[in-house]
Amino acid sequence: MGWNSWNTFGPKVTEADVRGTADFFVEHGLRDLGYHYLVIDDFWEADQRVDGRLTWNPETFPGGIPALADYLHERGLKLGIYSCCGTHTCGGKPGSYRYEEIDARTFAEWGVDYLKYDGCFHPPGADMKQSYRRMGQALRNSGRDIVYSLCNWGLGDVWTWGGQVGGHLWRTTGDIQDNWNSIVKIGFRAQKELAPYAAPGRWNDPDMLVVGMRGKGNAEVIHGHEGQGCTDDEYRSHFALWCLLAAPLMIGCDVRRMDEVAAGILSNRALIAVNQDPLGIQATCIGAHRNVEAWAKPLADGSIAAGLFNLGPGPQKTAPLAWETLGLPETTACCVTELFTGEVRGRWTRCYSSGEIPSHGCEVLRIVPQPA
Ligand code: GLA
Repeated sequence: MGWNSWNTFGPKVTEADVRGTADFFVEHGLRDLGYHYLVIDDFWEADQRVDGRLTWNPETFPGGIPALADYLHERGLKLGIYSCCGTHTCGGKPGSYRYEEIDARTFAEWGVDYLKYDGCFHPPGADMKQSYRRMGQALRNSGRDIVYSLCNWGLGDVWTWGGQVGGHLWRTTGDIQDNWNSIVKIGFRAQKELAPYAAPGRWNDPDMLVVGMRGKGNAEVIHGHEGQGCTDDEYRSHFALWCLLAAPLMIGCDVRRMDEVAAGILSNRALIAVNQDPLGIQATCIGAHRNVEAWAKPLADGSIAAGLFNLGPGPQKTAPLAWETLGLPETTACCVTELFTGEVRGRWTRCYSSGEIPSHGCEVLRIVPQPA
């Protein structure tokens, strides 16, 4: 759990943004909810290496990365940084190809706790898996505990080998955008077959959260236009699905400017608990009726988290969610609570019947079997 600069700040990220975000995390309780990693994405780097080493852009990061790491550590937060397995980063800055050992050592010396490692400008013909493996080894050799986040957009079915090369999480798709179609494509569609590959310490990553961006993302910075963003219901469904998927929760909006609705979604303790559940199981789609998909996963205490997501254009009721599809005996009485509202929906046997679900909205349930 944490934050990443890319979705909102893109190439314009500065040290002041990272410090300001850290201050906000501490003052407004995001740190205490578990959001610990602040990751500076591409464009922190200077245009050239100095004495063979990566260094920061002195104009946008005047205090330097080590001082920034200290600033975060003093506040109980962790620093993430970005590089690329190719000769250049996606933004054209120096990449780590064949500099893996020295770069990993440099990051460790600076006090970096997390590396997002991208896949641009990889030399044609070279084996990308080997390049990711070299950085994995270099991070282990660095003597510092550094989370290794692979970002090759799912190429070569990275979920089948990301863990073997030392990765703790791996991007499974291209970049998310702040609109509903993107959430459907990256979340509901692309994750359907991936549950078997997730487990504690090795996670599928469907990319960062767009909750709260409201169309003010880097699409504007890069392409010069402002998007529409998502509706409240769409942001709710996005967050709920990522929680059920046991996906990394990396906030992508400018938290200093987010509205109350977005803050409420990102701070929902019941959903965060589903995301952070110690079993670390990624939800699967257990059924669909009309436009409503049901996703569910078992939790460590014997209860089940389930989401009913209306992907259709209008409000809808859906077929009852049958205990059979959840692997529960029909006769089990369960207490059902909706996690966005906190409403207890009562005791149910055999199945649960939802209310009407708004277009692109959801009900997220914790289904707790009661002792007989
Ligand atoms: C790629 C990644 C993004 C971001 C940019 C930075 O597109 O997928 O998440 O890191 O590069 O240039």
